[in-house]
Amino acid sequence: MSYETVRDVDPAVADALAAERDRQNDTLAMIASENHVSEAVLEAQSSELTNKYAEGYPGERYYAGCENADTVEQLAIDRAKELWGAEHVNVQPHSGTQANMGVYLAVLDPGDKILSMELEHGGHLSHGHPANFTGKTYDVEQYQVDEETGYIDYDGLRETAEEFDPDIIVSGYSAYPRDIEFEEIQDVADDVDAYHLADIAHTTGLVAAGVHSSPVGIADFVTGSTHKTIRSGRGGIIMCDEEYADDIDPAVFPGSQGGPLMHNVAGKAVGFKEALEPEFEAYAQQVVDNAKALGERLEEHGFSLVSGGTDNHLVLVDLRESHPETTGKEAEKALEEVGIVLNANTVPGETRSAFNPSGIRAGTPGLTTRGFDEPATREVADLISRVVDNHDDESVKAEVADEIDALTDEYTLYE
Ligand SMILES: Cc1ncc(COP(=O)(O)O)c(C=O)c1O
Repeated sequence: MSYETVRDVDPAVADALAAERDRQNDTLAMIASENHVSEAVLEAQSSELTNKYAEGYPGERYYAGCENADTVEQLAIDRAKELWGAEHVNVQPHSGTQANMGVYLAVLDPGDKILSMELEHGGHLSHGHPANFTGKTYDVEQYQVDEETGYIDYDGLRETAEEFDPDIIVSGYSAYPRDIEFEEIQDVADDVDAYHLADIAHTTGLVAAGVHSSPVGIADFVTGSTHKTIRSGRGGIIMCDEEYADDIDPAVFPGSQGGPLMHNVAGKAVGFKEALEPEFEAYAQQVVDNAKALGERLEEHGFSLVSGGTDNHLVLVDLRESHPETTGKEAEKALEEVGIVLNANTVPGETRSAFNPSGIRAGTPGLTTRGFDEPATREVADLISRVVDNHDDESVKAEVADEIDALTDEYTLYE
């Protein structure tokens, strides 16, 4: 086969790919679920393994020619076990959502009951939202954070669980800035005879590095995305005790997926190897330190943080007090114009709507990958404040855009 580049074959896509590389290099990725993988992970993900069908699991495949797929998947599994201390690992879920689907399919029947956090309080679509298959398949009840404190209302969770009698309780969130008391939730699950699924999609890297509590060995099932704080190949992962292995594996394949995306599994294996290096622990700690610095500086500028701070990689800003006339979408748009890419987000007790919410969510995994420390992150907080205060002022935005250019030139990303 002659070797042709994307540019040779398809200039339109080549242009978009080059533009995306430039966009990532030239802006600050502060969407809390995003990160930048290494060139090694990128290389693994674009390997010839994309061509291979490897239905089944290492050593037990339905097709011939799987020896290299076996090697790669087994490495990913072994490294994941070491990273998170799990007895059994499935690295085939195509995404965090597919990982959750695998768990539900393994232990629930249609119509069974899920108790999970409300989306507007930080939960995820795949935890039972009406627009998601979970909301259409299962009977869903939700718990909340305490709107005064911003922390999970563990007493409310218990009361709801006792009334609702769920089959599974889901912990782990998309927009919750605090550590999670997995043991407390497990106690509730034990008392109401429910399974406990801890979805650590956002915090996989922090948990692996020991800078966030781990649900492994506490919750029955732990799921995650593999491309967020753990910074490996794109996809999902399920962890559980050995006793559930024969429920989980068939629920992923053939239960809810076909052939695994082996190129992504290779990306997971490479990213997990990187995460086993001592530098990753320092990275994860810096992610948390930077989020704290970001939050504290924003508070100094008068912003109000849900829960008054953060223990993890993100801050959730409630704009209603400091900027009552500014919506999250307006802030998001103005910030994107200057090169700070984050997202508008609902806040507990939301008074606007999911499409035009009152908050913004900002994460530090991407900045930290670029080498940002606390002083540099405080600078970013200063710029966020200037832009949100002056979101209609083109000259302020032009000045800030120049400062972002200087920062992205200093903290380089992809060559
Ligand atoms: C808590 C939680 N679970 C699951 C997911 C879904 O992950 P994916 O986008 O990989 O399907 C997310 C995504 O951000 C999440 O925040």
